[in-house]
Amino acid sequence: MAELLDLDAALGATVLTDALDAAAAVLGTEPRSIVDLGAGTGTGTLALAGRFPEAHVHSLDATASMLDHLTASAQTAGVGDRVTTHLTDLDGDWTAVLPEQVDLAWAALSLHHVSDPARVLRQAYGALRPGGVLVVTEMSGARFEPSDLGSGRDGLGDRVTAALAGHGYPVTAEWTTALGEACFAPVERHEMSFDASATTAEGARYLAIQLSRNRDRIADDLSADDLAALDAVILALGAGTSEVRTVSGRNVWVAVRPLDTMTHEGADR
Ligand SMILES: C[S@@+](CC[C@H](N)C(=O)[O-])C[C@H]1O[C@@H](n2cnc3c(N)ncnc32)[C@H](O)[C@@H]1O
Repeated sequence: MAELLDLDAALGATVLTDALDAAAAVLGTEPRSIVDLGAGTGTGTLALAGRFPEAHVHSLDATASMLDHLTASAQTAGVGDRVTTHLTDLDGDWTAVLPEQVDLAWAALSLHHVSDPARVLRQAYGALRPGGVLVVTEMSGARFEPSDLGSGRDGLGDRVTAALAGHGYPVTAEWTTALGEACFAPVERHEMSFDASATTAEGARYLAIQLSRNRDRIADDLSADDLAALDAVILALGAGTSEVRTVSGRNVWVAVRPLDTMTHEGADR
């Protein structure tokens, strides 16, 4: 999982930059305090610390190994002194670890993991200063090209995509209404995507990990011939002989805690 997240960060760098641009445009001023909710291996934390050199980033996650990875990466990137990790559960009173209200809250591919997203959104609202900005990112879909995945079996990629959808993958979520209900206004939603191609080493590795994980999820849904073809595709990715690519969609919400709202009945802080 950690390797997949790091590859996602490298290949999805344009999405990250566009999301940071959107947040900076809405904020208007340089953020000094940021919280990264479900920080994982630190994709968002490192990008935030790099983009906003005056900011301190509080990186929250419930998995210690993820935070260890993040700490090492922050040191390597030279931003370790501006990053503090907190081993904490977003299903609990996570706002208590923050020393002050923050200017920017960031929740990338993490909100769908929590048991009560509406509560986390209210907590994020309370953790932000008035005028502060919350950025939420989720996957919006993925497709593979060419449609035979280079296997010669027409439509294999479509059958893989359909079988995955039957199991709820990729996990998508729609937060526009929930953000409004948590009193964020305005709420913008940006549709973004990035390409990963097996013609690069990083792209081939990313696709190999993705398709290997997905193969196990849908093994019972594919015919024996399709499964054998998919195994051959995964082998070709490992051998560097595949030209498969994937287009991975992201929805990015940029939501503001209004300036003129000093209190919030539902806020948990
Ligand atoms: C898919 S990863 C995304 C990581 C990172 N934000 C990124 O964009 O690469 C989801 C992260 O959320 C964390 N997570 C899931 N549920 C959580 C919870 N209840 N409290 C804190 N962290 C949680 C996981 O440990 C994982 O690191």
